[in-house]
Amino acid sequence: MTEEREKVGVLLISYGSRAAALIDALSRSASYEARLFVADKQRNPFNVTHAEKHVVIPDLDVEKICDFVEANKSSIDFGICGPEKPIIAGVRDVVERKTGVPMICPTKRYAIEGSKASQRYLIEDCCAEANPKFKVFHHADYKSVSEVKEALWAFLDNFGDEVAVKPDKPAAGKGVGVWGDHFTSREHLFTHFRSIFESGSDVILEERVEGEESSFQAFCDGKRLLALPDTRDYKRAFDSDLGPNTGGMGSYKDTADWLPFIDEHDREEEVLLVQKIFNKLRGNGSNDELRGIPLYVAFMHTREGAKILEINSRPGDPEIMNILPVLENDFVDLCFRMIEGTLSRLECAKKATVVTYAVPMDYGGYRKRDSGDRRVDLSAAYALQDTYGDHLRVYPGSMELREDGNTYALGSRAVCTVGVGETMEEARELSLEGIRNIDGALWNRWDVGAAHYIERNIKKMRELRG
Ligand code: GLY
Repeated sequence: MTEEREKVGVLLISYGSRAAALIDALSRSASYEARLFVADKQRNPFNVTHAEKHVVIPDLDVEKICDFVEANKSSIDFGICGPEKPIIAGVRDVVERKTGVPMICPTKRYAIEGSKASQRYLIEDCCAEANPKFKVFHHADYKSVSEVKEALWAFLDNFGDEVAVKPDKPAAGKGVGVWGDHFTSREHLFTHFRSIFESGSDVILEERVEGEESSFQAFCDGKRLLALPDTRDYKRAFDSDLGPNTGGMGSYKDTADWLPFIDEHDREEEVLLVQKIFNKLRGNGSNDELRGIPLYVAFMHTREGAKILEINSRPGDPEIMNILPVLENDFVDLCFRMIEGTLSRLECAKKATVVTYAVPMDYGGYRKRDSGDRRVDLSAAYALQDTYGDHLRVYPGSMELREDGNTYALGSRAVCTVGVGETMEEARELSLEGIRNIDGALWNRWDVGAAHYIERNIKKMRELRG
């Protein structure tokens, strides 16, 4: 006779496949039966099927989310927020204040991705060696366009033209201009710079650092930061890192806690750097405003050591999908521990995982237009998931279940498959087998976790380090 599991009500604030992965992890709890209350960007077919209550809030407005929680608060034990926008807008502060439901995400004050300039100053304060050369151009410091241009030229003279130009506001990557991608002359760079500056935002210039990237994530209860294994994000749209920087088309995790092109010492360096930042934010004791994944750090491993490209205060998409399917802790229990401040141990299976995203034809400019009906049938992929069990997961993201009973791809990353294997190749094969079983006009990268891709990363690191 199976023992009855304790019921627990969980609010999920959902954007993309990340929420499906979180729901899947909650649903696998051995001790708890999760009743799910989902505040969703759209009628995600996975979320609709799994939720006891589901509400669509297209802009994920904090007040509307809070109304949903208020209406169901007697049934909700805690909430989890995946996307950054509500976190930056203070969803935790508002929901906790108005409803008393504890939230797993940092408070508005610690949504450190809200300001790229503040991030740079924070890193400068804790571990300056991990900052690329940067300069923040504050409006208040300049009286005229020619003055700011002069300062910009001085920076370029010092550190070279190969820079990234970023607005100091959360823009989900929008407005970021990179030498080589968006401009190849100083005048064009300045045009880009000026368009941000004149829109009222301060502007940050960062030197381009050469190396290989890793993504670092950690769960936090305010006292402790428990590191998750490293993952590698595939940010460019097309195979071999060609095409625009669209945001993760896939990602992989190796069997070890670090990636194949770095070693244990690089990993220790990552942990040390993030711990320094955490210690600074935490102060002397504990600071439960940091609960959740307050420091998801994109590192660039360079000749001079690890540099921090950016910090987010939420789980990575797709990187968290590499982790949750192999998390050995009971995820509901882990959530309670984050809330209670009793995090003590984190276990992930020593398996490789490969996430591959399938995206609509017009995503990333792959096709200029997609005039198909955008219908996507996941039934064969789900059937394969039933066959492979824990070795294959299928997580719909930017998809919608419509009145006609069919599911449709919207504008962004439609669905991802996660392959879990003893080796990277096995995980990749499983992930791609899942992709091949999705019926719809979608496309994907084929090289996520591929041996030839990883070999190239290893070679580049060797060359860099001599
Ligand atoms: N993988 C990129 C992001 O989550 O921002």
